[in-house]
Amino acid sequence: MTQYPKIYVAGHRGMVGSAIVRQLEAQDHPVDRIVTRTHEELDLTNQAAVNQFFKAEKPDQVYLAAAKVGGIHANNTYPAEFIYQNLMMQANVIEAAFRNGVKKLLFLGSSCIYPKLADQPMREDALLTGTLEPTNEPYAIAKIAGIKLCESYNRQYSQSHGVDYRSVMPTNLYGPGDNYHPENSHVIPALIRRFHEAKVNNAPSVTIWGTGTPKREFLYVDDMAAAGVHVMNLPLTTYSEHTQPMLSHINVGCGEDVTIIEVAEAVARAVGYTGAIHTDPTKPDGTPRKLMDSNRLNALGWRAKVGLDQGLKTAYQDFLANYAA
Ligand SMILES: NC(=O)c1ccc[n+]([C@@H]2O[C@H](COP(=O)([O-])OP(=O)(O)OC[C@H]3O[C@@H](n4cnc5c(N)ncnc54)[C@H](OP(=O)(O)O)[C@@H]3O)[C@@H](O)[C@H]2O)c1
Repeated sequence: MTQYPKIYVAGHRGMVGSAIVRQLEAQDHPVDRIVTRTHEELDLTNQAAVNQFFKAEKPDQVYLAAAKVGGIHANNTYPAEFIYQNLMMQANVIEAAFRNGVKKLLFLGSSCIYPKLADQPMREDALLTGTLEPTNEPYAIAKIAGIKLCESYNRQYSQSHGVDYRSVMPTNLYGPGDNYHPENSHVIPALIRRFHEAKVNNAPSVTIWGTGTPKREFLYVDDMAAAGVHVMNLPLTTYSEHTQPMLSHINVGCGEDVTIIEVAEAVARAVGYTGAIHTDPTKPDGTPRKLMDSNRLNALGWRAKVGLDQGLKTAYQDFLANYAA
């Protein structure tokens, strides 16, 4: 009989962590071989508590999807919390995993690790080639440290202890479990809320910030989770052929970007809003283009499956079920 690995998903109530649990279950991983703890049950910034947890549970694999995340405003207002908590969570989990015999771990970062002016699409080797976006630099530095923690443990302990810790850097994600906070959410959840409210209130038009021309990439979160499980389960020889010991992270994107106005139109379709969409060019646009180069992941045999229209329909159903007033 196959003995399934015992998998700890850190951050299982978050958007990404919950999608990883869904993905593992969809791949018939038994629920009783998935270990989770809420933030209240286990504060991952508490080193002693994390050590105790790993000693008691002895998981075989770890998905590290717990993080302190937030938008520009939160990152700007609480930079100390963003760098401290993320560094602590990563360092505690990775060290405790190693000390307790975890061979396989997947660390989740994000596209903010790349320099502000990185060439587009952003390749993995753009890491540490330039200055970061100042608004989320502390968060990005913590995420870069997470990649380097994984690489350093591999370099020191792969031969002696069989350690195999990998990192994935997803593009902008959306889908079930997203944050729909009116002032502090990403583009897609913010648009879903606004178009939903416009539909309910019969508003004749919705105005979106900026010119609508900047291009962004969006990936459905269950696609991201599938990519994460795919990367975790790749044979070490395959993974090593496509990465380097000190440049090991893998971008996770769909490979296509869309303009903000195209996203707004797609959200309006998903929500069923039929009014007009206006732009407000007096408001800032942000960077003109942000796209990941996902060739490394594609060469490793994975491609996104869920298109924007399909993903937005499901995201809107989740919004209606859980967040709509
Ligand atoms: N969302 C995106 O668009 C996106 C894009 C690229 C990469 N990512 C990456 O994916 C990862 C997860 O993001 P997400 O969007 O899923 O965030 P999320 O929805 O906010 O989930 C984060 C989870 O971490 C938990 N957590 C935070 N601090 C903790 C602590 N001290 N101890 C224990 N648990 C703690 C949170 O629990 P509480 O809520 O109870 O605090 C929450 O369940 C992050 O590394 C992020 O950089 C996300």
